[in-house]
Amino acid sequence: MANGSILYPLLVACLLVSSSFQSLHRHDGDAAMPSLTLDIDKSFHGCDQNLELKKASCSNKDLDTVPQNLSEDTEVLDLSKNNITKLFNSSFELYPLITSLDISHNDVRSIESGAFYPLKGLLYLFLSANRRLVLPATGAFMMSSQLSILELTASNLKSLPNDTLQWGLHIYILHLWFNQLSFINISSCGMVKSVILTGNRLQHLTARDFIFVCHTDTLDLTKNHIQTVDPDVIASLHVRSLVLGGYPLSDEVLANIFIGISKSDIEQLTIEKGSVGAFPEDFFDPLRDSSLSVLDFNSNDLSSLYSLVFSNLTKLIQFSFTYNNLPIDEIQPDFFEGMKALRVLIINYNQVRQVNPHNQTWTVDLSEFYLSGNLLTEISASVFLGLGNLTFLDMSSNKYLSFLELTAFSGLDNIQTIYLTESRITVLELYTPILRSLSINSLRSEYNPLRPGASFQHLQSLVNLDMKDSGLDIWNIWNENRNVSLFDGLLNLINLELSSNPSLCFISDLPPGIFQQLSVLQELNLDRCDITNLHPLVFSGLESLQKLSLKGNNIHHIHDDILSGLGQIKSINFEGNRIAYLEELMFSNNWKLTDLSLANNGLTRLNQSTFKPIFSSISSLDLSMNPIDCNCELKWLIDWLNKPIRLIDKENTICSSASLEPLREKPLLHFDPNELCIINYGIFSLIPLASISLVVISVLVYHYRWQLRYKLFLLKLAVVGYKEMRDARDNNDYEFDVNIIFYDDDEEWIREQLRPALEERLQQFQRNVFGDEDLVLGMHYLDSVDYVVSHSYKTIIVLSRAAVHDHWFILKFRTAMDHVSDTLTEFVVVVFLEDIPDDEMPFLARLYLSDGRPYIHWTENVRGQEYFWDELTKNLTINLRTNDLIPNE
Ligand SMILES: *[C@@H]1O[C@H](CO)[C@@H](O)[C@H](O)[C@H]1NC(C)=O
Ligand SMILES: *[C@@H]1O[C@H](CO)[C@@H](O)[C@H](O)[C@H]1NC(C)=O
Ligand SMILES: *[C@@H]1O[C@H](CO)[C@@H](O)[C@H](O)[C@H]1NC(C)=O
Ligand SMILES: *[C@@H]1O[C@H](CO)[C@@H](O)[C@H](O)[C@H]1NC(C)=O
Ligand SMILES: *[C@@H]1O[C@H](CO)[C@@H](O)[C@H](O)[C@H]1NC(C)=O
Ligand SMILES: *[C@@H]1O[C@H](CO)[C@@H](O)[C@H](O)[C@H]1NC(C)=O
Ligand SMILES: *[C@@H]1O[C@H](CO)[C@@H](O)[C@H](O)[C@H]1NC(C)=O
Ligand SMILES: *[C@@H]1O[C@H](CO)[C@@H](O)[C@H](O)[C@H]1NC(C)=O
Ligand SMILES: *[C@@H]1O[C@H](CO)[C@@H](O)[C@H](O)[C@H]1NC(C)=O
Repeated sequence: MANGSILYPLLVACLLVSSSFQSLHRHDGDAAMPSLTLDIDKSFHGCDQNLELKKASCSNKDLDTVPQNLSEDTEVLDLSKNNITKLFNSSFELYPLITSLDISHNDVRSIESGAFYPLKGLLYLFLSANRRLVLPATGAFMMSSQLSILELTASNLKSLPNDTLQWGLHIYILHLWFNQLSFINISSCGMVKSVILTGNRLQHLTARDFIFVCHTDTLDLTKNHIQTVDPDVIASLHVRSLVLGGYPLSDEVLANIFIGISKSDIEQLTIEKGSVGAFPEDFFDPLRDSSLSVLDFNSNDLSSLYSLVFSNLTKLIQFSFTYNNLPIDEIQPDFFEGMKALRVLIINYNQVRQVNPHNQTWTVDLSEFYLSGNLLTEISASVFLGLGNLTFLDMSSNKYLSFLELTAFSGLDNIQTIYLTESRITVLELYTPILRSLSINSLRSEYNPLRPGASFQHLQSLVNLDMKDSGLDIWNIWNENRNVSLFDGLLNLINLELSSNPSLCFISDLPPGIFQQLSVLQELNLDRCDITNLHPLVFSGLESLQKLSLKGNNIHHIHDDILSGLGQIKSINFEGNRIAYLEELMFSNNWKLTDLSLANNGLTRLNQSTFKPIFSSISSLDLSMNPIDCNCELKWLIDWLNKPIRLIDKENTICSSASLEPLREKPLLHFDPNELCIINYGIFSLIPLASISLVVISVLVYHYRWQLRYKLFLLKLAVVGYKEMRDARDNNDYEFDVNIIFYDDDEEWIREQLRPALEERLQQFQRNVFGDEDLVLGMHYLDSVDYVVSHSYKTIIVLSRAAVHDHWFILKFRTAMDHVSDTLTEFVVVVFLEDIPDDEMPFLARLYLSDGRPYIHWTENVRGQEYFWDELTKNLTINLRTNDLIPNE
């Protein structure tokens, strides 16, 4: 297990390494970069040292030995990409303080056994990609008890010394991907969090070939062609999670694995791409009452499931079989009978057509059921009979699902969340009185079944309702004859997402009273609903509303009363409408408003009295892309903007051509009313004038303190030679436009979000590489990854919690980062699909973030998504040169 006290220094070390790479790389002879001489000595033999940070970078210097004339207090040493072949006992004697040592991409063939002995504080050792690597037979890491990360990837290792893991107390990760290990004999070991043996030549998990005594969280043996397994070897493992697959595993091998697991403490077993197929009778017998709680078969060949087939998996809590290669036509409750402990069942992407066709009663006590990405067409009232404790049901991406009937009889008495995203619902009945979240977004039905007063009448507990892009018409949400709204009775609704329903206002405007009963609603999104007029009372009843978004509509005018009932409103977004002027009283009751966007409208004049009520509350204002007429009447605005209020998109907040002459087409913030708008009364007296000037100057300095600070900051940058440098090459100079690196499980996001957005926003980018499927054929996998990264104009790396646990993914991430260091070009953009807890964040990602490299957070929030796409588009269209030397302001 990882231990915080070990990790902390480790991460610090990683960060040091990275920044040293970049700052030092920058230095080596890139003529375009200003030369930096502050605290960096251009040093011996081409190595670059930062004496203050105790880093030395000798990457790519044609070295054939470890240089002996670096500073003796060096802590971070990068020797990657050289021709070093031998490490001597004396190689590091001069540098006993090294904590981080990178000798990857050399040709190290021999290491004297005492070579690392001087490095008593070594945390982090990279020896990957030394194609003929041989480690000393014994004792190599004897003195390195702090060692946390040992990278031995892709080094054609044929054997691993039996004491490799003996000396480190808490090794975090041992990477041994893609070597040629055919046996392991680790008979003495402390704790290691993960050991990754993917892609070696292990064939026999037997006492002769596989001895592994470490206490380990994850042992990954995928892509080894395992042919024999001795159950006792599995039984002797002290591993929490065991991962196998990548080659077909015979029934005998599986049987022995199960026997072994039944005698071990292994909690989690994953078999991916292992050709696991039909389960013979009694297949799972050994696992009866074993400690296994999570079983994950993905991308296998499951077929012909039968009654009670899993009944001996009595202790399993979570069972998942996803992306099966063969269709699993029917899911029947009796398959799972006997699984007494089962709570989470995941059956995504298996081409399932029917669930429970014979109206059986479920006997398992599920709380979460995932059925996404299948071929379901109909869910009748009796399908989930018996699942009285089910709280979460995901039926998204069932593109043919058109009929869903959950009645009082269905028995889903505790259901709280239902996903119907991307279905084709035309018949919907929901008797689910405690449901809290419902997503019926991205509907593709020809006929939307929602009816005001009927469809949601049994959803009184609903808190979140997502109907984005659902093809809604006004009839779906408002009954004109009875004055009844679809939302009537949703007295607990907090978030309502209605964006991208362009037909919503096709027939008539949104009527007043439509949101009347939503008195606790906090967020309302009506982006892109083709709204032209807003009735003055349309938002009446929304007394708790905090966020209102109306982006991308056709609104011309906002009546004084529209916002007047929104006393709690904090954020309003009118971006991308056609508003040409603002009423004086429109914000009169919005004194809590902090964020306001009026971007991309037709505003020419801004009246001080309009903004008076929100003068002190606003902290962020967007006026960009309006034809603002800058004249002396706007002095109040400039004064206001010089308060600590954030003007969004300053560069695009431009004075129109109707402005005062010197201001035309200039940024609004260049307008200095005190310069242009002071009337020259002539010189009455020189002495008072002098004193007045003094006062004016002091006032100005005070008023413009932020700008001045910024200017000072720029000046400081200029002094150290910082310049934002664009890379001159554009996408046409590359073989590919955008290369997207993502983890398989995130494919859905790529398909549903990223692909369409790229198509819509970046039409000039046609030659895109989406993940492994588009890699260059006929090349070794890693070479292909490398090739695509280095031949793409931009690379997007999509991070999720699952992704960062995938070692292939991390390897690709590292490849991309290496190229950033090598090319000094900021061509990588990292996208966080979700928050990744600190303790799961891989060091590479931390390193990336700590260097201020571009990254963006995906959000479920629609406004956030708009911002996300804007940011991403911006990031994808330019390439900056890397620069880490921005001083702190
Ligand atoms: C540092 O050592 C290298 C050999 O490792 C040598 O080529 C270089 O000239 C030395 N520089 C100085 C200043 O001693
Ligand atoms: C380093 O190794 C590469 C590849 O083996 C070789 O082409 C190059 O000449 C070597 N450089 C030196 C200085 O030995
Ligand atoms: C290197 O150090 C090890 C351990 O101290 C020692 O056993 C070995 O003889 C040394 N090798 C040489 C060539 O000095
Ligand atoms: C490693 O193997 C050698 C001989 O093969 C043996 O003498 C030594 O005790 C072993 N060390 C450990 C830690 O098992
Ligand atoms: C594994 O190492 C132990 C000592 O560390 C040794 O006794 C044993 O013979 C080795 N096993 C194999 C198969 O090499
Ligand atoms: C479950 O295991 C028992 C023995 O433990 C065996 O008799 C029974 O047939 C197994 N059930 C199934 C469905 O495999
Ligand atoms: C299952 O129940 C549904 C109604 O809930 C009914 O339409 C269907 O015919 C039943 N199927 C069988 C096989 O009994
Ligand atoms: C639901 O959970 C309760 C408490 O854990 C349990 O007693 C009950 O049997 C469960 N109901 C079903 C239908 O499994
Ligand atoms: C519906 O509301 C409108 C306007 O408030 C009103 O004129 C009409 O009488 C109402 N109709 C019903 C059936 O309440």
